[in-house]
Amino acid sequence: MSGLSLASAPLDLSGDCLRERVAELAPWFQNIDLGNGVRTAPDHFLGNYPAFKFDRFKHALPDDLEGRSVLDIGCNAGFYSLEMKKRGAGRVVGIDSDERYLAQARLAADTLGYGDVEYRQLSVYDVGALGERFDWVIFMGVLYHLRHPLLALDLIREHVAGGHMLFQTMQRGSEDVLDAPDNHPFHKPGTFDPPEYFDDPGYPRMHFIEKEYADDWTNWWAPNTACSRAMLRAAGFAVESQPEAEVYLCRVTDVPYSEYGPAAVYPARGAGA
Ligand SMILES: C[S@@+](CC[C@H](N)C(=O)[O-])C[C@H]1O[C@@H](n2cnc3c(N)ncnc32)[C@H](O)[C@@H]1O
Repeated sequence: MSGLSLASAPLDLSGDCLRERVAELAPWFQNIDLGNGVRTAPDHFLGNYPAFKFDRFKHALPDDLEGRSVLDIGCNAGFYSLEMKKRGAGRVVGIDSDERYLAQARLAADTLGYGDVEYRQLSVYDVGALGERFDWVIFMGVLYHLRHPLLALDLIREHVAGGHMLFQTMQRGSEDVLDAPDNHPFHKPGTFDPPEYFDDPGYPRMHFIEKEYADDWTNWWAPNTACSRAMLRAAGFAVESQPEAEVYLCRVTDVPYSEYGPAAVYPARGAGA
């Protein structure tokens, strides 16, 4: 791997001091090895997360990202931001809606000598405020937490995606992908019934979670594979590869139907809102 970028001297904390800082910011969702025998979430319910997951698809990323700009949306403690830095990325910006996760990310980056990663509290719905496009967008593990997932993809495409996007979502349902027609007939030909393939397991389907999933009320949606692919296409992302069942490597392409107007919407607020 070339282009290792160590922009700042690592934060010099003894093991005990570092352990204390890590404990102050707990609980951690990402297990990051900070050195000195300190890991941020050694007892994670998923094991060595997200490193074990990353091991399954990291071969799909270029080894050398020399100078490339990266936006990590929903960066959490910055695992993916740091991995991109290790590949030589230049400007790396991590955004998350949760300030505590960003404090974790800053501690991890400073400790590991990547203090030039810029972490900002910002929702994916506000990416337009960044005012720039990035060579790589990382949008991992966030879509299913959103009430408005297609809007988030539309906003990313409209404002910040400038090349590739690494995307992951929780998926449920079939991994089959039905080849749905471009133009659906209103009725099954010769009948007054709707086309049968809407009930096919491989038809794009988004499962709505009204209450909680795994005790977490922020899980709102779980697409099947066909739906993930279809939503990415609808937002103007071409899937280049699917290195793992829930992970998609995409590149920006034309947004379908854009000749009729922009895909993203910006609802107005009433005066009292
Ligand atoms: C399941 S974690 C995924 C973290 C990381 N991307 C990964 O794949 O390991 C979801 C993250 O998205 C963040 N998040 C949730 N809603 C968000 C929003 N509207 N805008 C930005 N970040 C959001 C959460 O705070 C959390 O850090």
